[in-house]
Amino acid sequence: MKTKVAAKFAELYGGEGALFAAPGRINLIGEHTDYNAGFVFPGAVDRGIVAAVRLNGTQRVRACALDPDEGAEFGLAEEDMPAGGWARYIFGVCREIAKRGGRVEGFDTVFAGDVPLGAGMSSSAALESAYAFALNELCGCGIDRFELARIGQATEHNYCGVKCGIMDQFASVFGRRGCLMRLDCRSLEFEYFPFDPEGYRLVLLDSRVKHELVGSPYNDRRASCERVAAALGREYLRGATAEELEAVRDRIAEEDYRRARYVIGEERRVLDVCAALGRGDYETVGERMYETHRGLSQDYEVSCEELDFLVDTARACGVTGARIMGGGFGGCTINLVRAERCDRFVAAARERFAARYGHEPAVYDVVISDGARRLE
Ligand code: GLA
Repeated sequence: MKTKVAAKFAELYGGEGALFAAPGRINLIGEHTDYNAGFVFPGAVDRGIVAAVRLNGTQRVRACALDPDEGAEFGLAEEDMPAGGWARYIFGVCREIAKRGGRVEGFDTVFAGDVPLGAGMSSSAALESAYAFALNELCGCGIDRFELARIGQATEHNYCGVKCGIMDQFASVFGRRGCLMRLDCRSLEFEYFPFDPEGYRLVLLDSRVKHELVGSPYNDRRASCERVAAALGREYLRGATAEELEAVRDRIAEEDYRRARYVIGEERRVLDVCAALGRGDYETVGERMYETHRGLSQDYEVSCEELDFLVDTARACGVTGARIMGGGFGGCTINLVRAERCDRFVAAARERFAARYGHEPAVYDVVISDGARRLE
């Protein structure tokens, strides 16, 4: 990717840009807890965005995405907002830096990415983090990494219409090779957990289905949580108990009740998984993953038939834990599987899924890697 990006940069603008990279992420457990101020357990992966960037001495941005080869040009003022697509993300990052007092100048750039789109591995966070990191450095803005993550999140909120939590951008900025991180999304305190489960592997199965979504179901889920939190007299669902939820059940919509029941359960599962990891008890980790899937499928309703099928297949093949990963509505499953069962499981999942849906899922091995950085 690095070579391709540098070559295209030279072809379009002449000379060289500084190279930056930022990754996508996985999440072991703690789904839809981030915007409820709860805990998540992500790690950065070895797939992401590589960007070549060079300031051009103007107030305009000239940008090019490789695969598909597509250009965009825009100014840096609020009224210069690109119509949509990837350019919106880069523009949003520039605006959010400017809102924080950073002096963003015009630049020329080329980028490429290898995070599969729509897989739930956060290609958009990779894009935001790459540019937040690059512009902070090249324009000398002096913004710390926490704020770089918030800049990516604010880009989603203010320029892309997704009221996401902080998990994806945080993982993309703070990732560390070989480590997952337990992040408290209320305080942003976090701890790295070396993750090398002896005798197990983490595998992603990408269903490669994208469901047509009506409206913005992600934001709807968040709104449900906020309504229940308000009924509980809390700012967030974080810390609420199942008993408290039961006590307000007749005052909230049945659907909101189920959404909150999932989130409250997930809160406990993340902490359980941390404790289990400490003991090297991967069987418990796996059980909690299956429970999370059940909650995401039945209560939170962000799964779909194809993902449920992949999780059922995992269970039938003796996989230790499996669940849908990321925001949902398509995407991939994350599977914790004993090393000796892995090949057989992947082959069976491929075959059974293809027999039913007419195409094979894509398979990705998880390599936990570093966060946003400058490349030599
Ligand atoms: C998406 C969002 C995250 C998080 C997950 C679900 O990836 O960007 O903030 O809410 O969904 O856990």
